[in-house]
Amino acid sequence: MDITNATLKGREGHWDIRIDDGVFGAVVPAGQHAAHADDSESFDAAGRLVVPPFVDAHIHLDYAGTEGLTRRNESGTLFEATQIRAEQKERGLITFDQVYDNALAAARLAVSKGTGFIRSQVDTTEDDLTSLKALLQLREDVKDWVQIQVVAFPQNTVLSYPNGRELLEQAVAMGVDAVGGVPHLEATREDGVASLEYIFDLAEKYGVAIDVHCDEIDDKQSGFIEVMAALASQRRLDVSVTASHAVAMAYYAEGYMAKLVPNLLAADIHFAICPTENLHLQGRNMVPAPRGVAPIKRLTEAGLNVAFGQDSIADPFYPVGEGNLLRILEAGLHVGHMLTGQHLDQALDFITTHGARNLGIEDHYGIEEGKPAHCIVLDCTTDQEAVQHQAAVLCSVHHGRTVFTRRPESYETRMDGFASS
Ligand code: FE2
Repeated sequence: MDITNATLKGREGHWDIRIDDGVFGAVVPAGQHAAHADDSESFDAAGRLVVPPFVDAHIHLDYAGTEGLTRRNESGTLFEATQIRAEQKERGLITFDQVYDNALAAARLAVSKGTGFIRSQVDTTEDDLTSLKALLQLREDVKDWVQIQVVAFPQNTVLSYPNGRELLEQAVAMGVDAVGGVPHLEATREDGVASLEYIFDLAEKYGVAIDVHCDEIDDKQSGFIEVMAALASQRRLDVSVTASHAVAMAYYAEGYMAKLVPNLLAADIHFAICPTENLHLQGRNMVPAPRGVAPIKRLTEAGLNVAFGQDSIADPFYPVGEGNLLRILEAGLHVGHMLTGQHLDQALDFITTHGARNLGIEDHYGIEEGKPAHCIVLDCTTDQEAVQHQAAVLCSVHHGRTVFTRRPESYETRMDGFASS
């Protein structure tokens, strides 16, 4: 197939993109190459922006659609959400079919909004690892239209949950892409450190990436991020290391940040930030209410890799997610004080290239000859317009095949004074 008349980031003019056997071929100035003989699959971008598909760097697909399954989260806190999730499990409501069907629906919703790559955390504090089995099956079943990475995530801790260590290793051995943790929820700081050491041990033993829920708490004394940085520097594993959420960083004193940031850079720690989720969950009962989101601008300007994620699609933690990363991006730019020209011009990086780096797929990601042909056509011409207009995704291509097309939004005017001339 071909995509014709595309606007591409960093290039002047319009371009035709050839796709052969699922791989990008030549990218040439518009109109300069011969169309395929059977060119029924050609898509005319008509000058619109074509970018690689969005990357959701952090979501919990296994929780999708469980908001209100037992009861709703009335306090809006992370602690009540965690309690509700535990109740859902105790009442036997979390079954293979329930997780699979809801996660599939969530993946379809996210892909319809332009996502092509998802890193999903999956709870391993289940005695039979039901959710993990469902997500591993789903990862395989949907690979023609979305690439899912699975993170073994011990929601109810590694050390306090019965057999938590064994369950986490069992999960990793089943073929996940990354191992996670929740050090700030362990019983003591010492347990949190021990859990991180264990997570790094598992990553080394099984050769998987690390993606830890780190310091997702309104507590400036929660400093597991420095432990992650120290372990990453000491162990020097050949895997990516990501700190997810990292909201306590919003409360750190400048003196501590001055020490911490160089250590994060030296350790090449990546960040997965969930702006809408943490705006909702953090700062409850605090006056004045803090923003409760990791310092996106500070981290970005220091040269650290920051990607965004949806985190939740209608679950006890956050009731209104729909997998739309442009909404997440808009919220992240607002809470990060980043509606400046410099950041708006590259805004899509937070949900494209930065996410690809977190997932370790950057070598196979991007519109370049020889790379797998994954791309989307946005109904806009710049990053700033994409944010301003929440640009619709008009075409999605995965492995060189069209996943869907969508017509641009239109409406009929009925009043003379309203209609444009
Ligand atoms: Fe999360």
